[in-house]
Amino acid sequence: MGMITLGILGSGAGSNMQAILDAIDAGALDARVGIVLSDHPDAHILERAELKGIRAGVIDCSGHSMKFPDVAQEETARKLREAGVELVCLAGFMRMVKRPLLDAFPSRILNIHPSLLPVFPGLEAWRQAVEAGVSESGVTVHLVDAGMDTGLILGQERVSVFPDDTPEMLHARLQAAEHRLYPAVIGRYAAQLMQ
Ligand code: GAR
Repeated sequence: MGMITLGILGSGAGSNMQAILDAIDAGALDARVGIVLSDHPDAHILERAELKGIRAGVIDCSGHSMKFPDVAQEETARKLREAGVELVCLAGFMRMVKRPLLDAFPSRILNIHPSLLPVFPGLEAWRQAVEAGVSESGVTVHLVDAGMDTGLILGQERVSVFPDDTPEMLHARLQAAEHRLYPAVIGRYAAQLMQ
């Protein structure tokens, strides 16, 4: 079985990307990261990628605060293909992926989401969980489709919510679970793709 080439898209700190890189370094994930792209030029995820000598680039979404314009998706698909990417991992990427990119990588885009989907889709799922007063939440890795966090679920890990949790406390606990789950599910899914 060959080693799969991943492409990572992120908008923020990049702790999930770091977990993927750490799993690769530890020999727990048979993959390489070909390119890291961000819609925010100053996102920490880009710095982390550059520190590791990984190709990093900016997706130009200027003029659009939330939308992922078609031209930007086409440009993203082109950069991912150029880097030899076989599987795309969204890691805190905060724009909704639509047709141009989905069509370029059918059933080959994964996302990590900080809730037990289908509960609490969308933004700040950790805050949604605290405000709903649930005693359990968790994290989900799923295939990306055109909906909001609706694609096929590939793996989940449960996380306790305590009565005095703040959204930030819960988010930190959820992130620890994300960092375990995402590299493990990527490895399993990649092995299926590479068969
Ligand atoms: C993660 O908690 C991820 O689950 C969440 O953003 C954070 C990014 O952190 N994603 C979403 O809420 C997607 N709807 P990171 O940049 O440190 O990996």
